[in-house]
Amino acid sequence: MIKNAVKKIIDMEWFARMMEVLDHRSDNRMTELGMLSQAFEFIKINEVCGDYLEFGLWRGKTFGYAHRMKHRYRRQDMKLWGFDSFQGLPDTGAHPDNIWYKGQFACSRPEFESILKSRGIRSCEYELVEGFYRESLNDATRRRLAGRKAAIVYIDCDLYDSTVEVLDFIQPYLVNGSIVCFDDFYNYKADPEQGEQKALSDFLRKESGICFIPYMAYAPLGKSFICRRT
Ligand SMILES: C[S@@+](CC[C@H](N)C(=O)[O-])C[C@H]1O[C@@H](n2cnc3c(N)ncnc32)[C@H](O)[C@@H]1O
Repeated sequence: MIKNAVKKIIDMEWFARMMEVLDHRSDNRMTELGMLSQAFEFIKINEVCGDYLEFGLWRGKTFGYAHRMKHRYRRQDMKLWGFDSFQGLPDTGAHPDNIWYKGQFACSRPEFESILKSRGIRSCEYELVEGFYRESLNDATRRRLAGRKAAIVYIDCDLYDSTVEVLDFIQPYLVNGSIVCFDDFYNYKADPEQGEQKALSDFLRKESGICFIPYMAYAPLGKSFICRRT
């Protein structure tokens, strides 16, 4: 019964995407897939080695795109890491422009894994880190990532607090040429005092040895950067 429900939702997503293609809604748009395609091309040209780390998985749309690009670019060496609570957003707190709510985007881990399986993504190709970042981005997770580097980081966790936790965590894995994508950078009508945009400026203010070179804007709200260590 659960399997049928999952299949139905996947079919609905597939149908929605087909409609976008058919009525040309995505024509001339730099989409999330386009962004990841550029990021993989960039790391190929610049010989940037490392893994793909995604923070905020929901039902695996962008994770699936990354998997597609990993194969297109024959990055056998690249592991796909996915970080999520699998319970949706944490407490979103009181906020002037709060458009989110606790539990939004909930998708359980078994459901997520079964979506990946239905898309032909084998479990040996990815690693999942389950839990709210405040608890899960800990020493045990660092041990799992020991010796690894991040070629591409995809941040899609919407909230300021979550993004602060993610940026603090990824810092040691960034190398010259790592691409970092923020899916909701221009949210809140691009208010620099909210969301992912504020998290990044706070991070850069305290991290003197790192800078983010603006790279590409994409989708309606996304922006990517190239990391440089100084
Ligand atoms: C917008 S959805 C991600 C969309 C996804 N990338 C896609 O392609 O459809 C946001 C995700 O971030 C996760 N998330 C946000 N803050 C989190 C936190 N502090 N800890 C763990 N997961 C978090 C939520 O569980 C949710 O799955």
